[in-house]
Order: sequence, then C-alpha cells, then structure tokens
Amino acid sequence: MSEENVFAGRTALVTGGGSGIGKAITAALLDKGTNVVVLEISPENAEAAAAELAGGDRLTFVAGSVCVRADVEEAFRVAAERYGTVHHLVNNAGTASLSLIQDTSEEEWDLIVDTLLKGTFLCTQAFARQAVEAGAGGTIVNISSLNAVAATDGLGHYCAAKAGVMQFTQVSAGELGRHGIRVNAIGPGTVNTPLGAGFTVGRIGQEFLDRTLVSPPRHQEASDIADVAMFLMSPAAQRVTGHFIPVDGGQHVRGLHSYWDVAEAQGLVSRPG
Ligand SMILES: NC(=O)c1ccc[n+]([C@@H]2O[C@H](COP(=O)([O-])OP(=O)(O)OC[C@H]3O[C@@H](n4cnc5c(N)ncnc54)[C@H](O)[C@@H]3O)[C@@H](O)[C@H]2O)c1
Repeated sequence: MSEENVFAGRTALVTGGGSGIGKAITAALLDKGTNVVVLEISPENAEAAAAELAGGDRLTFVAGSVCVRADVEEAFRVAAERYGTVHHLVNNAGTASLSLIQDTSEEEWDLIVDTLLKGTFLCTQAFARQAVEAGAGGTIVNISSLNAVAATDGLGHYCAAKAGVMQFTQVSAGELGRHGIRVNAIGPGTVNTPLGAGFTVGRIGQEFLDRTLVSPPRHQEASDIADVAMFLMSPAAQRVTGHFIPVDGGQHVRGLHSYWDVAEAQGLVSRPG
C-alpha cells in the first residue's frame, strides 16, 4: 500500500496546531488526506490557521488547553463524533519563558511544566484508551526539544519538562507497543516559529547560527520538523519506537550554547548580583 493511501481517510489529533510546528504538521497531514482535529488554546491562532489551511470538512479546531482533562476529552469526543477512531496523536502544544531559577515563580513553573508534560500525559492517556478499545493501533509523536538533553541557563522549567517528555515517550512505547501503537519524540533545535523567534531572527539569530549550527547554516523551519513527524507516523517507520530524534541541523555537535548567555551578550537580560 502506498504511503498516500495509508494516510488518506485516517484521523489525527494535533495539539497546538494553530501556529508554528503544529500548524506545519497539520498542513502535512491534510495534504495526505488525513482528517485533523486541533486542540488549540488561542482563538486568534485557531482562526488564522483555519483560514490559512482551508481544510474544509477534514479540519476541526477545538478550543481548549492540553492541561485541562475536560478539554482533552472534549477534543477526542469531537474527533470520534466527526471522524471515528483517532490513529495519530501529535503532542506539540507548548510555551516557554526565559527565567533564572531564583526568579522563576511557582505559577511560571506550573504553566510551563503542565503545558509540556501534564498535557502530554493527558492526551496520551485519552488517545491510548480509545485506540486500545478500537484495536486500531496507531502512532504518537511527542514534540520534545533538544533542551531535553542540552541544559541551558534560564530554561530550568522547560528543560526539566522536555526531558520528562523524552522519558515518558520510552515508557509509553513500552506500554503501548503490544497494542500496535508506536511512540517517538522529536527534539527540535531552534525553529523559526513565533515561539522560537527570539533566537532565530535578528542579531541573536545570527549569533546562534554562528555558534551552534553545523551545516547548512540556517535555523530549522517548522516544515523540517513536520517532515520527520510524517516519517515517524508512516509505515516506513514501523520498526521505530521509543526513540528521541533530534532535528537540529547539527546543533548538538557543537553543544547548545546558553540562550541566556546569548541574550546577555546582546544586552537583553542581565544576571543579578
Ligand atoms: N520553536 C522552537 O525553537 C522549538 C524548539 C524545540 C521545541 N519546540 C517545541 O515545539 C512545540 C511547538 O512550538 P512552536 O515553536 O511551534 O510554538 P508556537 O508558539 O508557534 O505554537 C505553539 C502553539 O501551541 C498553542 N498552545 C500553547 N499552550 C497550549 C495549551 N495549553 N493547550 C493547547 N494549545 C496550546 C499556542 O497557542 C500555539 O498556537 C512546543 O512544544 C515547543 O516547546 C520549539
């Protein structure tokens, strides 16, 4: 069976698909004939993405947060009602902030860790329950980060949560493999999206290129991440599960220099004392 036929008529749920990487993955799935439900917290992003993607009956946005069980369950309920069983889950929704440990509030920690880690758990649980009951198998792609393995100052909450997503990916793969569900994580380096723009554009973007990227010298685009996500969801990756796959243009080779140091060098932040 061709890859085209395998994706056509299937159903995917993408979190945070109103912008950046999630929007690029949604576009790639729509292009292959897949039905896509997007769980998105931002009405503005949802509205703009719906107009841009023009998915017609095959694209449905559900307003809500990955951190809220009722919202996650509503997204899967809507998916079941409109399209039936969900075959592919993409845990992508995310947010970040730059804050040294001594300055990070409990609220900031909770927002980042809940969005990235608890959200991945809630969506994985809801997906697994319906997929196992349907006996349909499927795939999960977790969008982690190179920060799962590269510690950077100012991103304690983010690094901890992304490392958690990486390890949760392995446990999920182990538990769900017997049900024909493969689970993998992607670790993007700096990606040119609204979230990553602080480190991909202007002088800071250039400094990051100079310091960290190997070849070719450019930041990742959202479509670079979507290409690998589509591979992991496809039958070509049928023996690939439980892995963390960096998509970083080689940033790991030189080491991910501190976002904080780069921002400080540009006079944007300064360390206390
Ligand atoms: N951009 C980068 O450099 C980069 C690098 C590594 C990993 N990532 C990860 O990729 C993922 C996507 O990031 P992006 O760069 O496309 O960001 P983005 O800001 O362009 O898009 C993120 C989307 O998620 C939505 N969202 C945020 N919180 C949500 C919630 N609680 N529930 C539902 N939707 C929510 C936002 O409204 C937005 O539409 C994130 O998990 C991010 O951590 C990004």
